[in-house]
Amino acid sequence: MHHLVKSGNPVKQRTGCIIVGVFDRRALTEPAAALDKASGNALSSALRRGDLDGKGGQTLVLHHVPKLSTDRVLLVGLGKERDFNEAAFRKACAVAARAVRATGAIDAVSYLTHLPVKGRDLAWNVREASLATQDEFYRFDAYRGDKAKEELPTLRLERLTFDVPSRSDLPAAESALAEAQAVGAGVTLTKNLGNTPPNVCTPAWLAGQARQLAQQHGAIKVKVLEHEELKKQGLGAFLAVAQGSRQPPRLIVLEYLHGPKGEKPVALVGKGITFDSGGISIKPSDKMDEMKFDMCGGASVLGTFKAVAQLKLPLNLVGVVPTCENMPGGEAVKPGDIVKSMSGITIEILNTDAEGRLILCDALSYVEKHYEPAVCVDVATLTGAIVIALGGFPTGLFSNTPALARALLDAGEDSGDRAWQLPLWEDYQAMLRSEHADVANITGGREAGAITAASFLHRFARKMKWAHLDIAATAWKGKRATGRPVPLLLRYLLDYARKQEPAPK
Ligand code: BES
Ligand code: MN
Ligand code: ZN
Repeated sequence: MHHLVKSGNPVKQRTGCIIVGVFDRRALTEPAAALDKASGNALSSALRRGDLDGKGGQTLVLHHVPKLSTDRVLLVGLGKERDFNEAAFRKACAVAARAVRATGAIDAVSYLTHLPVKGRDLAWNVREASLATQDEFYRFDAYRGDKAKEELPTLRLERLTFDVPSRSDLPAAESALAEAQAVGAGVTLTKNLGNTPPNVCTPAWLAGQARQLAQQHGAIKVKVLEHEELKKQGLGAFLAVAQGSRQPPRLIVLEYLHGPKGEKPVALVGKGITFDSGGISIKPSDKMDEMKFDMCGGASVLGTFKAVAQLKLPLNLVGVVPTCENMPGGEAVKPGDIVKSMSGITIEILNTDAEGRLILCDALSYVEKHYEPAVCVDVATLTGAIVIALGGFPTGLFSNTPALARALLDAGEDSGDRAWQLPLWEDYQAMLRSEHADVANITGGREAGAITAASFLHRFARKMKWAHLDIAATAWKGKRATGRPVPLLLRYLLDYARKQEPAPK
């Protein structure tokens, strides 16, 4: 579906469907009132009949509205006007998308973008409206049978125009839309990779997807390291996790170098466990299927690269995705094994299910050694404990650099893809003490599980300005990948690129 921006009188729109909002108690928004007036009160009389009173989530489709050149008018309930906020705006856009999808309209014009949202500008409205719509139209049907595929509802809507109040708003609206389309493309890629079943989405397949991405966007370069090279470079912790599986591991390295020459890059590191059985410390079978999503951090790195390349951001960006399976094969790593990480730090593996930190610590060392990044952000479905701590709304954020934490938190607020910071105090390091090695991969108890996992990574990121995003509670919802935190990361990178530009003289 194609998204556009335009500025036009609602009364004159020739289209399949006009979308306008109605606040609670049947209070027509301005564009709705204009349609009402032009049509001889067709809208208000429908409302008076009691079909919609404006509560959030309600919709009503009117056909044959007199004197208008549109086939339909879609009324969307917005809730109480004084409570109308960012969440209500996104919800209205999502509800409108669902309702228009159910009609036969091939094109539509939305006036929801006119709605004032406190503290937000029109560009924000356009961006969020487009993203909410893209989310609602997302489908993942590649693995249904032919017959089921034939019976899927057809998505008829081809063009959706977001109207803006004045022609002078168009340049800002157009760039907001371009951003939304890039983020949407990145989110869609991340969702697709996450949703792909783990018998297909193996480390080699994921590396192939990274190669495809580089083929689609010439600005992205990709390198894939295999077992021998990983061994040579000493990624012993990563290889220890991989050794229990028949699927060989891969280290995916992405480069997008379009910022100032010589400027140190931003590094993104993503956990790419294509299936986490727990290994010898095997998981209970309940919901184990969801451990196919354990590569969503890596998928979000690929998604973010796609968005960055599509927007041609002036930025130096590198990405590292260690990807393997965590399986209990005959050669699998065992509780009690001690391995040597790339950094030289030895690790006693007391629980093979705490594998994310093992593959990430080597990826962090790799990126530090080869790129000396200006900042490094890792993204990982790292702990069940973060789900307990924060629930499914925010991503968990940890950082050794307050300004970086602040920038990521702000990017989360702005994009609605929120994060919440937890502490990384040195006190927690004592919990990772090992009897026989430099560090253990788990603690004795269940306390502060998300923080101790982050603290483990912290030991390997001392020399970098580093942040860690624990997305175990946000990367998927139910049985569907969400594409998070691509919106957060892209907002962060856009701001980063803007600040890097020399100030205009
Ligand atoms: N991939 C899991 C984390 C996870 C669990 C994400 C459940 C989403 C839902 C990770 O590899 C893991 O197994 N972590 C363990 C760590 C523990 C053994 C210290 C956990 O969280 O239970
Ligand atoms: Mn695990
Ligand atoms: Zn895992």
